[in-house]
Amino acid sequence: MGLAACEMDPDFLAIGLGALPNADGEIELDASMMDGSDLSAGAVCSLQNIVPAISVARHVMEDTPHLMLAGDQAKRFAISKGFEPRNLMTAESIKHLDDWRAGNAPYKYLHVTDDHVHGDTVTMIGLEDPGHLVAASSTSGIAWKLPGRVGDSPIVGAGIYADDEVGAAGATGLGEELWKACASFRTVEAMKRGLTPQQACEETILHMIRRQARAMEHACVVFAMNKEGEYGAAITDGTFHLWICQDGAVTVREYNGMGL
Ligand code: GLY
Repeated sequence: MGLAACEMDPDFLAIGLGALPNADGEIELDASMMDGSDLSAGAVCSLQNIVPAISVARHVMEDTPHLMLAGDQAKRFAISKGFEPRNLMTAESIKHLDDWRAGNAPYKYLHVTDDHVHGDTVTMIGLEDPGHLVAASSTSGIAWKLPGRVGDSPIVGAGIYADDEVGAAGATGLGEELWKACASFRTVEAMKRGLTPQQACEETILHMIRRQARAMEHACVVFAMNKEGEYGAAITDGTFHLWICQDGAVTVREYNGMGL
């Protein structure tokens, strides 16, 4: 799966191996996936020393009666499934940590300002004919977060949601705000009321801008696809690039902030 490949790429700062750590210098990973056919889901949060976290989330979904495993117990579960613990810090992530500790980090939260690197979550929605949807997300969360902090990405309804009767949605950006808005579930419910994916995403983002002051402090994105394959996205502030892969062809669409 694409998310697992992203996690295993040490040059990709956003997730998995070589991601940006918490304030104690530990990489803590959150991941989730949801199957729209029966609303089954699996998630891990605050997982250390194991990649790919999304594959552990899949084992939670497929091999346990539970939805989420956390922290050391999630790690123990992963080891029982054959994952090998490893150091996830790379020379580059150590350098970023040292810079941050010295007060020189060029970024405060998830986004990295250097053109060559990109922080943040990776969230994916998949549609398989006829009308079967899945959603998945993986993140190392906010760089320099308080240890134990969990964002929206592993939370069903916040970071992801999929329901074959309607569509699927995913989120990326400031997890606290996306979680408060139940952004993915809210967007799928809006599609259920008859809105197009684009209208549904805009409704969620406008709700966040109106009700949540911090939603404009950092970019918050929601994107969605209905069971017919129509899609849309919206962002509170800044610019977001949505990558669409259809029949092997990739296109990129740009969305601009809806805030004033
Ligand atoms: N959206 C990722 C996070 O806030 O952890």
